[in-house]
Amino acid sequence: MIFEQFAAGGCRSYIAACESSRAAVLIDPEISLVDRYLGFASQQGVHIRYVVDTHTHADHFSASRDLGRMLSAPVVMHRLSPTPHADLRLDDGDMLIVGELRLKALHTPGHTRDSLCLAMDDRVFTGDTLLIGGTGRTDLPSGDPHALYESLFEKLLKLPAETLVFPAHEYKGRSHTTIGAEIADNPRLQKAERAAFVEMMEQLDLAAPTHLTEALRTNMTGGKSVTQLLAEASARVPFMSLAELNARIGGNSRDLVILDVREKDAFEAGRIPGARHLARGQLELRVNAELPDPTVRIVTCCEFGKISTLAAATLRDLGFGRAVALDGGVRAWREAGYAIEPPAPADGARAV
Ligand SMILES: [Fe+2]
Repeated sequence: MIFEQFAAGGCRSYIAACESSRAAVLIDPEISLVDRYLGFASQQGVHIRYVVDTHTHADHFSASRDLGRMLSAPVVMHRLSPTPHADLRLDDGDMLIVGELRLKALHTPGHTRDSLCLAMDDRVFTGDTLLIGGTGRTDLPSGDPHALYESLFEKLLKLPAETLVFPAHEYKGRSHTTIGAEIADNPRLQKAERAAFVEMMEQLDLAAPTHLTEALRTNMTGGKSVTQLLAEASARVPFMSLAELNARIGGNSRDLVILDVREKDAFEAGRIPGARHLARGQLELRVNAELPDPTVRIVTCCEFGKISTLAAATLRDLGFGRAVALDGGVRAWREAGYAIEPPAPADGARAV
């Protein structure tokens, strides 16, 4: 078997592949690692046949939908998953065949209603049901400590003690554990009575994961994260450096519209010399009146260089084939010491 563990912060994902057929399965892919999964698969000469999410993640951005499309591979989740982009929905006991590999789905609700563990040969992928020295939390949407108790004590922990455990999260850099080691040492598993376990889970006072609402929104709907939206826009517009723009202003270039897309008060408080104002929120409404020539060269700018990227992408969609975005925003321009108009008032003049 070809086996690789990938880490993105505390998130773990896995590729397992059959050596003879070169078929592979990818488990719990995270959006920032897409190129690494594809690079690994191509380097190993394996083809990803299934993309699995062990549950609806609330704490990271799943790449399953994008990868499923790219690879023409079905996105696999539990039958109860709320997302519309699951192509293959599993029930407890269903098996995936990946060349000579066999992955058996165990429905293990508790962390979420749609949580799955996948047992394969000597190992089990436990998602967030069982972590190294921990368990998934049960206080997020569709979590249930009673269900987690049953999933752990009546199902998962009944696997042979030597079974290797590969979780979806690990924060201390360990690669895996075993069922036996967790039964012996995992603090959350020492309360083997249902009532005591449920009480312990209910008393955990955990902070909400970062990006909770955005992760749930995107993972449940298949919609994009803001970072993805920006990355997609960045991939299809060229940029202009601050130094290049400064040189062009100095050279009195007339063939360049500097389009400041911030709100009006920010524009009036200080802008790149010669910049024209057209707020991002007004762009489509006023573009015909403001920019009658679609062949004009445009550089968009905003405060941080993000909204201006979206604006340049929109302008390209509208036919302005020479729209580019400033690499950095007005803030970076100011911090680099380039000229601002109107000039900041001198200290003495500010009192009036
Ligand atoms: Fe989770």
